[in-house]
Amino acid sequence: MNKTAMISGITGQDGSYLLDLLLSKGYNNIVGIVRRSSVSNTSRIDHEKGNSRITLVEGDVTDAFSMSQLVQKYKPDEFYNLAAQSHVRTSFDQPIYTWKTDAEGPMYILDSIRQHSPHTKFYQASTSEMFGRAYSEKDGEKFQDENTTFSPQSPYAIAKLAAHHTVRLYRQSYDIFACSGILFNHESERRGELFVTRKITKWIADFYRWCELQGVGIDPKHFDLSNDDYICKKDLPSPLHRERFPKLRLGNLDAHRDWGHAADYVRGMWLILQQEEPEDYVLATGESNTVREFLKTSFSYLDCSEWEGFVTIDPEFYRPSEVDYLRGIPTKARVKLGWAPAISFKELVGRMIKNDIDAV
Ligand code: NAP
Ligand code: GDD
Repeated sequence: MNKTAMISGITGQDGSYLLDLLLSKGYNNIVGIVRRSSVSNTSRIDHEKGNSRITLVEGDVTDAFSMSQLVQKYKPDEFYNLAAQSHVRTSFDQPIYTWKTDAEGPMYILDSIRQHSPHTKFYQASTSEMFGRAYSEKDGEKFQDENTTFSPQSPYAIAKLAAHHTVRLYRQSYDIFACSGILFNHESERRGELFVTRKITKWIADFYRWCELQGVGIDPKHFDLSNDDYICKKDLPSPLHRERFPKLRLGNLDAHRDWGHAADYVRGMWLILQQEEPEDYVLATGESNTVREFLKTSFSYLDCSEWEGFVTIDPEFYRPSEVDYLRGIPTKARVKLGWAPAISFKELVGRMIKNDIDAV
């Protein structure tokens, strides 16, 4: 297929799955924007190293000059802007940096497209975080869809909402094929280790292997759990360092999230840009689970039902403002794009646990 796609954020979780998808679709030139780093940041895409259909270029979305140069040089058919400071908690500590990457970055790209490559179709990675505390209600059920109002609760969500409106403005004012996918949480075996799902599955995998080395199963009866910080093997006079394991430290376990698998969501991104008309779409599973339910399902894969004693609640992981309930209804995507997620919540958790255990 004689098509050029440009991806910012190609080294991230979604960028790597989108790369796999576009290669499978036969795109003959995929230009990935990689930001300069002192150590390699391409581990998620190294399995395609040397593929002649991929061009990696250096760039940073906060640098208007580099964005303009790249758009002018490649004049891509499609531009997927996945680059972001994507961690909500971090955005409270680094709000200005988050604003520059997540709000200014998309504007630089869109304006480069307006000036130098108006035929380029543009995809923006919008987020369910923009809904914040807002939801719609029908028959006693709470949900969010394309008609729900926005009530962002973090510097991240505010920056993303600014970008979301920028996309609409450029679409309406300059006739650019610009779309936003309002994506609910999606995870995977490639998820960053600071997001709660991967933090949980990785900790469980490490703990599982440690238990194996100690010659015991994952069962509270083998451990003294009275210490807030460590899990200690029982009946030892004074636990040595190697006979104790740090507990899993988490924040709010009651938040609800609508979790799907990233491979399904990048298929939705691609479909959004293949339509006749540029529009915004919600991509979600329609199912909402709490962090506690994610923990329970994860431990259940190791036949462990009494896991509470392995977890310590740490205020450090609470946020100044929380988003309590996310559950997206992707009816528009199902009807217009023919999109539906194929991987269930349970399968997602199972895949992440297996991957982390295999990797330890
Ligand atoms: P991710 O794993 O954190 O990846 C973010 C990517 O952006 C990385 O490649 C990162 O590069 C790159 N990046 C960060 N700052 C940049 C800059 N200034 N210039 C160029 N590149 C930069 O995030 P993800 O989960 O794949 O998410 C992809 C996009 O979807 C993000 O915009 C995120 O906000 C949005 N989103 C994600 C979800 C979700 O649940 N995953 C849901 C809704 C929306 P490095 O590798 O060098 O760090
Ligand atoms: N990260 C993290 N670490 N979150 C924790 C922890 C912890 O130790 N303990 C509890 N949580 C709770 C958070 O308070 C939040 O309610 C929930 O777990 C999910 O947190 P994250 O996994 O960090 O994801 P997020 O929902 O804040 O943001 C993700 O999804 C958004 C879409 O809704 C990110 O991928 C964003 O980039 C994305 O836009």
